[in-house]
Formats: sequence, C-alpha cells, structure tokens
Amino acid sequence: MNTELHPAEVLDAYLHVCTDSSAFVDQFVGPADQLEIRGPVLDCAVGTGFGTIELLQLGHSIVCSDGCAEMLRQFSANSEAAGVPAKPLLLRWNELAYAFPQVFELILCRGNSLAYADAWDSRVDDPSDFSSLVEHLSGMYGAIKPGGYLFVD
Ligand SMILES: C[S@@+](CC[C@H](N)C(=O)[O-])C[C@H]1O[C@@H](n2cnc3c(N)ncnc32)[C@H](O)[C@@H]1O
Repeated sequence: MNTELHPAEVLDAYLHVCTDSSAFVDQFVGPADQLEIRGPVLDCAVGTGFGTIELLQLGHSIVCSDGCAEMLRQFSANSEAAGVPAKPLLLRWNELAYAFPQVFELILCRGNSLAYADAWDSRVDDPSDFSSLVEHLSGMYGAIKPGGYLFVD
C-alpha cells in the first residue's frame, strides 16, 4: 500500500475539516462588487480549489491556474464533484505576464501562497527563502490590466 500522501491531498483534507470557505467567498464577493470588477479574474494559486469552487458555483467567472500539477489534479476532481468542471492552467507565476499580458482586472493569490512559493514541488529547499519574490510578483503584475488589482492574503 502506498502511504505517501502528496501535499495536495493533505491540504485538501485539512481544509475540509478545519476551515470554512464561506468566509473567503464573502471576502471576495463584497470587494469585487465594491470595486465593480467586471473584467476577467484569475486565481493564480488555485490549489485544490478552496473557496474558488464555491465562487464558480455562484456563477463567478474565474480563470484558474497553479504551478503544481498535483494540486490541479485534485482541483479538477473537486470541481467536477461540485458540478462545475473547470479547465485549470498549469502556470507558474513567472510565466503569467507572458501568457496573459495585461489581461486580468483582478488576480487572486490566496491562502498564504506566497509563503509557500515553489515549496509544493520541492523546487526550494528552504521555504523561508524569499529571494524569488520579486520574480513571482512581477509575473503577476504583468498579467494585470492597467488600473487592475492584485489580492494577496
Ligand atoms: C498554500 S497553497 C494555497 C492554495 C489555495 N489558494 C487555498 O487557499 O487553498 C499555495 C499554492 O500556491 C501554489 N504555488 C506555489 N508556488 C507557485 C508558483 N511559483 N507558481 C504558481 N503557483 C505556485 C502551490 O502549488 C499551491 O497550490
């Protein structure tokens, strides 16, 4: 029996047991209304879909991406089970500006994701090494429309 769990499965189990996604849904819907976000929105660290899948169920149009294939496999299973099958994109943050130059009115980078930059696929040995932060943020900024927003939590 394979007892090794990928962090995607661990994260997913943890989120289901220990958290309440409705708080995130409210955290998105209120400000998005207030800021009158009408253009395309990207969740660039969608992970297993925590909160974002609920937003898709509510009819919000959100492009979903993540840099980890295993996370996206779990996301696809979750979004399908929730009745909103989505096609997520495998994209690292430093690729966003090239893939989507100045496209999005709002980019979400949620769930403390910057603190876990590249940690999931073990690209970094030391998760507290923030030397690539500028590269990560530049990728995100380059994909935002002039006057658009970046939401980081
Ligand atoms: C802590 S999880 C948060 C996931 C989700 N937003 C949530 O709230 O559950 C961090 C996510 O950031 C993604 N990530 C880390 N480094 C990345 C990078 N360089 N480019 C794209 N995604 C990255 C990971 O694959 C992971 O899915």
